[in-house]
Amino acid sequence: MPKVLVTRKIADDALAILRKSCEVTLGPDESGWSRAEILDAIRGCDGLLPVGHAKIDAELMDAAPRLRVIANFGVGVDHIDVPAATARGIWVSNTAGSLTETTAELGWALILSTVRRIAEGDRYVREGRWKGFGPFFFLGTELVGKTLGVVGGGRIGQAVARRAPPFGMRVVYWSRAPRPEFAADAHRTLDALLRESDIVVLTVALSPETHHLIGAPQIALMKRSAFLVNIARGTIVEEAALARALVEGRIAGAGLDVYEKEPEVHPDLLRCPNTVLVPHIGSATIETRTRMGIIAAQNLLAGLEGRVPPLALNAAEVRR
Ligand code: DGY
Repeated sequence: MPKVLVTRKIADDALAILRKSCEVTLGPDESGWSRAEILDAIRGCDGLLPVGHAKIDAELMDAAPRLRVIANFGVGVDHIDVPAATARGIWVSNTAGSLTETTAELGWALILSTVRRIAEGDRYVREGRWKGFGPFFFLGTELVGKTLGVVGGGRIGQAVARRAPPFGMRVVYWSRAPRPEFAADAHRTLDALLRESDIVVLTVALSPETHHLIGAPQIALMKRSAFLVNIARGTIVEEAALARALVEGRIAGAGLDVYEKEPEVHPDLLRCPNTVLVPHIGSATIETRTRMGIIAAQNLLAGLEGRVPPLALNAAEVRR
């Protein structure tokens, strides 16, 4: 039986798929393993199903000379050295399509809770500070008639954009090339999108080109009344520049699911009342996490059986 390492517990349905034909070593539930523990556990494994964002690099691959497939639990593979895997003939797959709608829903949860100050209001009520209704009390910003700027035209960007018309919002978007899924006149340069949008939502994948895509010069282009929402990866934004802009009131607020040095959060973001901060939960619904586990397990099994994993990212380069 092939040996596989699943670095954290995933849904029972997904584990059941693997246990039919593999010997499964399972990491801990929530705390995760240290690097040394993963290095130790991976020795002798044929397949790896990494859960979370621990670095999967050449050293780790070399610790497991029999490794044939890395089936990531998630879409973003910025923590995996895909070229190193390709060089060693290891397939790398993700769970593309498994978390699109749920992540778009979280994007909207952040948009709504940021513009209507939901988290701040919740804290206010719980702290016993609420004295009653007031005509100027806890004023937010309405969405109807406003412009949503979607940075990234992929699946999640499209799903965020699809939800805008019922809120009466107009959509503009930035992607490298115009995409048929968006209105023909909605494509913008990044600078134009930042100038025009009332809400900017980041949905691009992390790559060397998108690292710090949004820094101080880009934030300076945004309206003072605009909000920034990040459901992509923390390092797409220069967090210190964002924190400074929020403290100085250069933009109206931010809703963040992801951070530059997770689980650390810039102290100024923690202090800003106009931020809504959640702990990287874009795909965290029961349905989606179960689906992600099943898809990752299916990719892993395919690779172990010598078939190209259905969602392999390096299928063209790794041929058997
Ligand atoms: C993803 O799929 O990229 C999520 O952020 C979980 O890793």
